[in-house]
Amino acid sequence: MQDVEDIFLLLAPSVNSEVILPRSRENIRKYLPNFLVARSGGALAGCVALRDFDDGLHEIRSLAVAPAFAGQGLGSELVQSALRLARQRQGKMVFTLTMRPNLFLRLGFKVVANDYFPQKVWADCRFCPKKDRCNEIALCQELV
Ligand SMILES: CC(C)(COP(=O)(O)OP(=O)(O)OC[C@H]1O[C@@H](n2cnc3c(N)ncnc32)[C@H](O)[C@@H]1OP(=O)(O)O)[C@@H](O)C(=O)NCCC(=O)NCCS
Repeated sequence: MQDVEDIFLLLAPSVNSEVILPRSRENIRKYLPNFLVARSGGALAGCVALRDFDDGLHEIRSLAVAPAFAGQGLGSELVQSALRLARQRQGKMVFTLTMRPNLFLRLGFKVVANDYFPQKVWADCRFCPKKDRCNEIALCQELV
C-alpha cells in the first residue's frame, strides 16, 4: 500500500504538466500488479506500468523517475524491465505514447502514427485533455 501512495506522489508533477495521464489512488491500487517500481533506501526512485490490451498488445505507461535519480539510466532500466514483463505475459507488441522518444528509440522502438493503435484511442485518447492538441510521439516494438 506504500507503493500506491508513493507512485501517486511520484506521478503528480508529470500529471500536472500534462506529460502523464492522471491516475487516482484507486486506479493505481487496482492495477498495482502492472507496476514495476525502483526503490533506493526507502524512497521510490521510479516506476513504470504495463497495460494489457489483449491479443498480445501491451502499453508502457506511467513512466516516471524522481528528479534526484534522473539521467543515470533508471528510466531506461524501467522500460527494459517492462519489456521483460511483457514477454513473460506472452506479449507480442509493446507501444507507448511519449514526449521522450529518444529514450525509447535507443531501446529499439520505432515511431508510428499516433492513431496506429485504435485500442488506445478508444480507451484513453478520446478522454485526454490534449486530444485536440496531442504532442506525444507513438512508438512500438515487436517482441520476438
Ligand atoms: C522520462 C524519464 C522517466 C527519464 O528517466 P531517466 O532515469 O532520467 O532516464 P535515463 O537516465 O534512462 O535517460 C535520460 C537521459 O539520460 C541519459 N542517460 C542515460 N543513461 C545515462 C547514464 N548512465 N549516465 C548519464 N546519462 C545517462 C540519456 O542520454 C537520456 O537522454 P535522452 O532520453 O534525452 O536521450 C524522467 O525524465 C521523468 O520521469 N520525466 C517525467 C515524466 C515523463 O516524461 N515520463 C515519460 C512519459 S512516457
